[in-house]
Amino acid sequence: MSKTKADSYERPMRLRATSHLRDLCAETEFNRAQLIQPLFVVEGLKGEEPVPGLRGVMRQSLPHLLKQVEQDLAAGVTQFILFPVPAEKHDEEFDHRFTQSVIRELRKAFGTSFCLWMDTCLCSATTHGHCAVLNDEKIALKKTLKALAESARAFAEAGADGISPSDMMDGRTAYIRAALDRHGFKLTPVMSYSTKFASNFYGPFREAADSAPQFGDRRHYQLDPRNRTAAIAASVRCADEGADLLMVKPGMTSLDLIQPIIAATSKQVGAYQVSGEYGGLSLLAENGLVNFDAALPETWHVFKRAGAQFIITYGARYAQALGVR
Ligand code: PBG
Repeated sequence: MSKTKADSYERPMRLRATSHLRDLCAETEFNRAQLIQPLFVVEGLKGEEPVPGLRGVMRQSLPHLLKQVEQDLAAGVTQFILFPVPAEKHDEEFDHRFTQSVIRELRKAFGTSFCLWMDTCLCSATTHGHCAVLNDEKIALKKTLKALAESARAFAEAGADGISPSDMMDGRTAYIRAALDRHGFKLTPVMSYSTKFASNFYGPFREAADSAPQFGDRRHYQLDPRNRTAAIAASVRCADEGADLLMVKPGMTSLDLIQPIIAATSKQVGAYQVSGEYGGLSLLAENGLVNFDAALPETWHVFKRAGAQFIITYGARYAQALGVR
């Protein structure tokens, strides 16, 4: 057998031989400031209860939420996204008093030592669990946009740092931006769930947020996972409507879209590692099939490699313990 060039000197493994060499060549780095921790606060809940399938994630009463945030801050978390679950469901007029009181209590207890994003949607607040106001089971778009804009205003007024619409209604980013501007919140950023698919990976979340649709599904407003063109166009539209930050969701099944969206919008794009994705790791680990502490940061590095600027992940609170700076 003749000696080839590869045999003689091409040995890419040389640069993987020691941890120092691997670190020298590592191209992705991120820090805790770019990880966002989701929180669930449930009106009327006594105490707290674990969310099935999601390691370390709880549904919590306000007092437990305050304790959780204190712990998370001590563990180096600086970014949160809050999912409020109101006790009473409505169809058209929504009551923001509970959510506003939660935001105010968080601000009172922890000041500006953290950044609070508010998931802004209707699915946890409606009787039917859809992300819209419905009229005869059809989306009443104008009423929906009004309700979303009103939620955004209420959250900003109570002290939220940023608004994060997750409903996927046409035109909602522009509507929310206009409402924020009108009410004096010109500097409140909007982080839109801009490329959000109708996905099977939201299961554990819908249990936690009490937001499963009571009939039908969300395929008439969320994106079709088969489509790349519409997926990119949805983010372009959000950018045009004034979104400050964009996002792909589910993150792990949308890695291919991050770079094209950045190229098309010149905006920074984050990734949401959704409940079904994080839950997959949790359940594998529970069954002894994966080392959770190693697998979780692996997924974060992959998001970064794909170009994600920030990552919403249920495991943000473990980052410091896992050695993330
Ligand atoms: C609300 C919302 C959902 C998620 C975030 N905001 C559920 C959905 O659209 O059905 C999913 C998050 C997750 O699965 O972790 N519209």
